Amino acid sequence: MRRDQPIRGLVTSESVDAEDRARLIHGARGLGVELIDHPASDNAQMAAALDAVPEAEVMLADFLPDASAEAATTGLSHAFGLVALSDDMSAEVREAADRRVRNLRWIQLVAVGVNQEVGSFVWRDAPHVQVTTASGLPSLAMAQYVVAAILNHAHGFGRLGHYREVRDWSVRREFQTEVLLGRTLGLLGYGGTGQRTAHIAHALGMRVIAVRRSGAGQSPARYRLPAIEAIDQGRHPAEVWGIEALDRLLQASDYLACTLPLTRETRGLIGARELALLRPGAFVINVSRGPIFDEIALIEALRAGRLAGAALDVFATEPLPADSALWEMSNVLLSPHASGTHDHVSEYTADLFLANLVRYMAGETLLNLADRDRGY
Ligand code: GLV
Repeated sequence: MRRDQPIRGLVTSESVDAEDRARLIHGARGLGVELIDHPASDNAQMAAALDAVPEAEVMLADFLPDASAEAATTGLSHAFGLVALSDDMSAEVREAADRRVRNLRWIQLVAVGVNQEVGSFVWRDAPHVQVTTASGLPSLAMAQYVVAAILNHAHGFGRLGHYREVRDWSVRREFQTEVLLGRTLGLLGYGGTGQRTAHIAHALGMRVIAVRRSGAGQSPARYRLPAIEAIDQGRHPAEVWGIEALDRLLQASDYLACTLPLTRETRGLIGARELALLRPGAFVINVSRGPIFDEIALIEALRAGRLAGAALDVFATEPLPADSALWEMSNVLLSPHASGTHDHVSEYTADLFLANLVRYMAGETLLNLADRDRGY
């Protein structure tokens, strides 16, 4: 696609630091795109950015623009719940929203999951705006988290605090490392994070099995960090099945790690029945979205000792309420929806945006296109 005029775009995302913004702006200019820096951390600021550059066609953003400046856009800190759909939009508000996004054609988000965006105006009412996710960017960090949780469990590092307290060499007798060779890791989802996890787990001698919506077939074009492409070459280490094989996967799993997106199909996918199918003493890890599990059933299975433990980064309600029973459970590792946060976010985000901008300018299909019907 050749253009006579440079096209204009906005960088509203606050996830990219000054150095990477400068790199982005420079790289985009080389592609014939003038990027304007206009940070927005809420919807009022987003509206101001769109008003300042009404001809903006592309955007790098932390969230999708919503209809009214008052819309409850919370940014990324704890906005991973399902946003309620609000239909009570006045004609005036709708008209202003339409006008603001009329020229937009593509928004690159910095989140992988988009369930928190499905109530927004752009998602629901502006289908001419392609939305792409950050799929692939946090996969290194999230895979490390999953494997760290597995190793932590297998080595019982949690006991080291007690050892330090008692200063008693004889606790040595209590240490018995679980050898992971031959243990089975079941992966719910086999995108970037699942695949990276599979490679590491495979190197530990684990058997890796995975279920995903598309089974062993083709999934849509996803961004892979070049560094991961280089180290994960060759055969995939996991047996990959369709989601209809979920029960079989659960029955075989010593460790279960969830990396699935939250959609209509996956909400509540793992309930009491599914947890009961896991091997006795299994260990559960969730790094994608809390509502994929029935949290009450999970707590019950952990309390009853059917599960040995869990490492949970995501919860039914976020932030995790102060009175959640999970805080009291010594066999549960808790983290504040942070498994995908890492020290290269800015760099990788700029790389992804530029890679997709090249495709956009060439009229090619973008990587990580979110599908409004599928919901991810
Ligand atoms: C975080 O959970 C994300 O979806 O990026």
